[in-house]
Amino acid sequence: MPEFVIGDTDFLLDGKPFQIISGALHYFRVHPDLWADRIDKARRMGLNTIETYVAWNAHSPEPGEFDVSGGLDLDRFLRLIAEAGMYAIVRPGPYICAEWDNGGLPTWLLRDPELRVREFEPRYLAAVRGYLDDVYRVVAPHQIDRGGPVLLVQVENEYGAFGSDKRYLAALTHYTRAAGITVPLTTVDQPTHEMLANGGLDGVLHRTASFGSQSTARLKTLREHQPTGPLMCSEFWNGWFDHWGAHHHTTSVEGSAADLDALLAAGASVNLYMFHGGTNFGLTNGANDKGVYQPLVTSYDYDAPLDEAGDPTPKYHAFREVIARYHKVPDSVPPEARPAPTPVAVLGDPAWLLDSPRRWGTAQEHENLPTFDELTPAPRLAFLRTTVDVGAPGVLTFGEVRDRATVFFDGDRLGTLLREHRDRAIRLPRARGELLVLVEDLGRVNYGERIGEAKGIIGGARVHGEPLTGWEVVPVDVPALPDLLPEVSAAERPSGPLSGPVAVRGGFDLDEPADLFLDTGHWGKGLVWINGFLLGRYWRRGPQRTLYVPRPAVRAGRNDVVVLELDTMLEPEARFVPRPLLGHTEA
Ligand code: GLA
Repeated sequence: MPEFVIGDTDFLLDGKPFQIISGALHYFRVHPDLWADRIDKARRMGLNTIETYVAWNAHSPEPGEFDVSGGLDLDRFLRLIAEAGMYAIVRPGPYICAEWDNGGLPTWLLRDPELRVREFEPRYLAAVRGYLDDVYRVVAPHQIDRGGPVLLVQVENEYGAFGSDKRYLAALTHYTRAAGITVPLTTVDQPTHEMLANGGLDGVLHRTASFGSQSTARLKTLREHQPTGPLMCSEFWNGWFDHWGAHHHTTSVEGSAADLDALLAAGASVNLYMFHGGTNFGLTNGANDKGVYQPLVTSYDYDAPLDEAGDPTPKYHAFREVIARYHKVPDSVPPEARPAPTPVAVLGDPAWLLDSPRRWGTAQEHENLPTFDELTPAPRLAFLRTTVDVGAPGVLTFGEVRDRATVFFDGDRLGTLLREHRDRAIRLPRARGELLVLVEDLGRVNYGERIGEAKGIIGGARVHGEPLTGWEVVPVDVPALPDLLPEVSAAERPSGPLSGPVAVRGGFDLDEPADLFLDTGHWGKGLVWINGFLLGRYWRRGPQRTLYVPRPAVRAGRNDVVVLELDTMLEPEARFVPRPLLGHTEA
């Protein structure tokens, strides 16, 4: 069996120095029918390794579950990597950051108020151990010393940016080894002295660093904390992610290529973050909050060498040339992107959600207003209803809105409160009436102290200082929404703008399956399903204007589209455009 170890200055594969040239590709952000295509394109760029995180919350929506079906079939993903003749790096967290909802930590962990994440805390560790056992049952047989592709496993993620609990890192290491992981173990930290010191475990876990520029200086800092063995940039940030309401991030092709060149010239190993970003399909995006809450957009294109639709970019070709200076790269390059088909679907059959809120989920009674996290499972979108009868008109106040609340009174929309604006109050026009609040979780914070925080309305609702009680809560069953739409007898076709919350649907024809780019520019804010596949969120504020539709989600012939518009839709039409529109850049 092959042997992969950490030598005095290099990684050693069967005794010979081996430079890892890896690229990140998250299987959970790519349609499973496209995994092989993306892996092959990584190989053709000259990479020898694919790195992936494992997203705990994707596999385990409820305690005790570990779903490895379809898009979560990590075993199949690792097999495809091996079949392509490549190696693999696995980073199971348990915390992964990754601009992923809650940094990968399941929300059910936080139902226990005593539990503290990312430290040596028995309740948390018990859950982590169960999860790691599940992951490593899949990963262990794929290790290189058993004939598989896995070279390295990472423990935690940039732990030095969060804590310094060495007992916690030691416990994770113990669980990893006890579960049969024999390959070298690493940590990754941003290259500051404090983070590298706090995030590592001397002599046990091999330290690596994450950065996107100034390769030479960063490697020098890393060397001070990892005095022997190979140098590795485990996250070479060759692009960046986008927040709603901000610009689309890009990085210079020449600059990134030069930094990659410096890394390879120094003999360092590298993992491109990302080789191919993929998509935050469904409701999987995370958020940042460094003073202001900033949710991530649906696209995780990342300005990566291989774009969101799996097409090579100028960065792909530039990186391939750089790699070719050091290693032999395959001759053939993937074809350039072709314009996507541009069908149009007329949207009709509007179903106004407020007409019968109970249609969309199972209603529950609560005397006091619960947070989302006090409900099982925690909803992502919910109607909160009560009757107001307070003597005189007043101002409705919430403790805090996480993350967006649209307030209706006797069916009239009063306004929308946004967390990032720190909105938490709105005037009620009358002393009596039916209050209905539609609250949306826009993605859990994935970095820093706020991971794990509760969603929904925090601290209840008051008028004249008195709490409102007697709530009916309807968690919207988002995955099932297309199936909950009423049967329509006479197809209704609205002509002008529509005010939500409303679900509309339509159909379009294709000659053959193809990647599509859905233009959401004339809609407000909401969700879209194609043939039942939830593409993700759209939002007029951008920067992202198109949603990527992977070709396995469509078929030759008739295709269905369902749109849930929570705000206002200017034109009830689904138009597809030939190319992605990810929005304005900073320059
Ligand atoms: C850090 C994290 C990654 C990701 C990047 C930014 O390096 O380790 O998971 O969040 O930042 O994209």
